[in-house]
Amino acid sequence: MNLFDVYPLWDIEPVRGQDTTLWDKNGEVYTDLYGGHAVISVGHCHPHYVKKISEQVGKLGFYSNAVQNGLQKELAARLGKISGYDDYALFLCNSGAEANENALKVASFHTGKAKVLAFRKAFHGRTSGAVAATDNPKIQAPFNSTDNIVFAPLNDLEAVDAELSRGSFAAVIIEGIQGVAGIYEPTTEFMLGLRALCDKYGCVLILDEIQSGYGRTGKFFAHQHHGVKADIITTAKGMANGFPIGGVLISPEIKPVYGMLGTTFGGNHLACTAALAVLDIIEKENLVENAAKIGEYFESAFKDDKAVKEYRGKGLMIGLELKDEYVGLRNKLLFEKHFFTGAAGAQVIRLLPSLTVSQETAETFVAAWKELTK
Ligand SMILES: Cc1ncc(COP(=O)(O)O)c(C=O)c1O
Repeated sequence: MNLFDVYPLWDIEPVRGQDTTLWDKNGEVYTDLYGGHAVISVGHCHPHYVKKISEQVGKLGFYSNAVQNGLQKELAARLGKISGYDDYALFLCNSGAEANENALKVASFHTGKAKVLAFRKAFHGRTSGAVAATDNPKIQAPFNSTDNIVFAPLNDLEAVDAELSRGSFAAVIIEGIQGVAGIYEPTTEFMLGLRALCDKYGCVLILDEIQSGYGRTGKFFAHQHHGVKADIITTAKGMANGFPIGGVLISPEIKPVYGMLGTTFGGNHLACTAALAVLDIIEKENLVENAAKIGEYFESAFKDDKAVKEYRGKGLMIGLELKDEYVGLRNKLLFEKHFFTGAAGAQVIRLLPSLTVSQETAETFVAAWKELTK
């Protein structure tokens, strides 16, 4: 059997990792400023992470959600504390799309309404509700098309007000910072206004922090830069450093009912152990602060760079929009200098490194970039 061929692949096969370094099967060394698409939060193969998962798999890897699981309770308590959402409840699942799927469902159950407002260029995942709320017709099958989703331009409160005033909206879903779109931030004024409009029209405000959360932007969640609270927050990528997991943080205003949500694998022992190890490392190594610090360094190094048309983002969620003559730089960084980076189209290079990335590694990257663009 062959693989179902849906990904254009680079001909590189990493087989080993340590912090921000990767080795491929031929022994070539790479520096990872992509973090496997914002997933690696505490570095590849962190010794504490490896130890905790290894110990747990030797004790109990999985049992179903029909029995008590103290690891889930510990994760909920720790995540509530570090995120400032102590009084919220946690539902655990297995991926970002699944987290959004559950968030949309909870909002609809809670309000008894069906419509959802999402934003232009948004990406929320590839499953049915999540992909319908994603502003990219190319990845929506006819099966996914629905009149329940409406898109408004980002940072346009008047447009949001006009839509919500039509009634029957269960939720507004918005990324903390739009990632796949190419790193676009909502303004503070917009986020405050959005919160007020959700309150006015009785809609649930869902913050998709799947890419922008878990300390990446220099605060635990990106929306916390604006001083707003969400009713539901979804998380995934950085949560367990590559072990599949998703989380839905749900306001105490929204009451659970038996059977409302459910999952076979969500919240399993290994996933919770991996997520707890990530929180241990984030706290012990002050990684949220490191993300802010290295982010400031990158901003100062690239803001006036001759290849950069616009620098966007916060902390370690960075979009470098290239001037036309520098398109192609990402491949040069990879093949000539051995740096993995992300992209959004041909024009934007995305940096999404592990929150452990050091000043030295950041400087090495900047030096390589400057050499390629001199
Ligand atoms: C903001 C956002 N939401 C949702 C998802 C979907 O997550 P997953 O691929 O784990 O389903 C992604 C993935 O890139 C994302 O960036």
